[in-house]
Amino acid sequence: MPGKLTVLEGVTIAEAITAKWEQIWNFQARDGDVLIDTYPKSGTTWMQEIVDLILHDGDEQICRRAPTFERMPFIELLHLMKPVTFSGHIGAYCSSVQGWKGPRERGIEVVNAMPSPRVLKSHLAVHLVPPSFWEHNCKVIYVARNAKDTATSYYHFDQTVQFHPDPVSWEDYLEQFMKGDVGWGSWYDHVKGFWEQKDKRNVLYIFFEDMKKTPQQVIRKVAKFLGKDLSEDLLNKIVKLSSFEHMRDNPMANNSGFPKEILDQSKIVFMRKGAVGDWKTMFTARQKEVFEDHYKRQMESSTLKFQDPK
Ligand code: A3P
Repeated sequence: MPGKLTVLEGVTIAEAITAKWEQIWNFQARDGDVLIDTYPKSGTTWMQEIVDLILHDGDEQICRRAPTFERMPFIELLHLMKPVTFSGHIGAYCSSVQGWKGPRERGIEVVNAMPSPRVLKSHLAVHLVPPSFWEHNCKVIYVARNAKDTATSYYHFDQTVQFHPDPVSWEDYLEQFMKGDVGWGSWYDHVKGFWEQKDKRNVLYIFFEDMKKTPQQVIRKVAKFLGKDLSEDLLNKIVKLSSFEHMRDNPMANNSGFPKEILDQSKIVFMRKGAVGDWKTMFTARQKEVFEDHYKRQMESSTLKFQDPK
C-alpha cells in the first residue's frame, strides 16, 4: 500500500516519519558527529561514500564493511529499519567483509551504540533538524542539486519509495514538486533554508554539479572540513572509488540491499544515471518555461545561485 504525506511545521513529509516525530526530534547527537543533510536526490549517497572514504583513508575494504544505510544511518527512518536478511550476492558479500556481523536490528539502539564519531544522514529541512546537532556544534555537510535534475531524479525514485504516494504522471508530479507537495517538502525552502544558516552554523554547502565537474576540489574541501589532509594519491583514489561506475558496481554503496518494504527497486534502480542535465529527457518546452518562471519567483530574493544545466 502506498504511503501518505502530511504536513509538519510547514513541511510536507511522510506520515511514516511524523508517526515517530518525538523520537526523531529528540535524537541525541554527540560531539564529533557529522551530519550529511540534503533534499532527496541531491547526491546524499555519493557524499556519504566520499565522507566514509575520507575518514578511513581511502581503505576500500573497510568502506565495504556494511551497506551505506548501516554505516551512516538515516536518522528519520531508523524506526522503519527492521532486520533484513541479505540474500544472494549481497549476503555472500556481507559475510566476507571485515566487520560485518550479519543481519541485526537496526534501530535507535544500534545508532546509540555506534562509536563516535558517527556519520549520520537526514533529509530534514533546517528547522526540523534535531536540536542536539546544533547544541553539539556538529559538522553538517549539505549537498544541493539543481532543481530540474532533482525533480527528474525524484520522480523516478518516488516510484520505488513505499512510504510515499506513487507518482501518477510526470506532469502531475512536476506540479507537486513545484508546490512542495512531495516528501520532505519544498526544494526551494530546503536549499534556501540551509543556505541562510551556513555562515551562522557549522555547515559546509556543496553543489552536486561541482562534484561532477571538479570532484578533486570538492573532495579536498570536504576533507579539510573534516580536519583531514589528503595526499594527491589518496585524493585520486577517493575520486575513483566514489565514481558513479564504481559505486554502481559496489553492493555496499549502491543501495541495492535497502529493505524492499521501504524501497522497491524492481523497476528502477537507485544508481540510475548520475548525470547533470538529465531533466532534458523529461521536461517539455512548455514545462521548462513554466518551471523557470516559477523558479525565478521562488529564488529571486536569495543570493543562492545554481549552475543551471542548459
Ligand atoms: P539520478 O537519479 O539522476 O541518477 P541521493 O543519494 O540523494 O538519493 O541521490 C541519488 C542521485 O545521485 C541519483 O541520481 C544517483 O544516480 C546519483 N548518484 C549517486 N552516486 C553518484 C555518483 N557517484 N556520481 C554521480 N551521481 C551519483
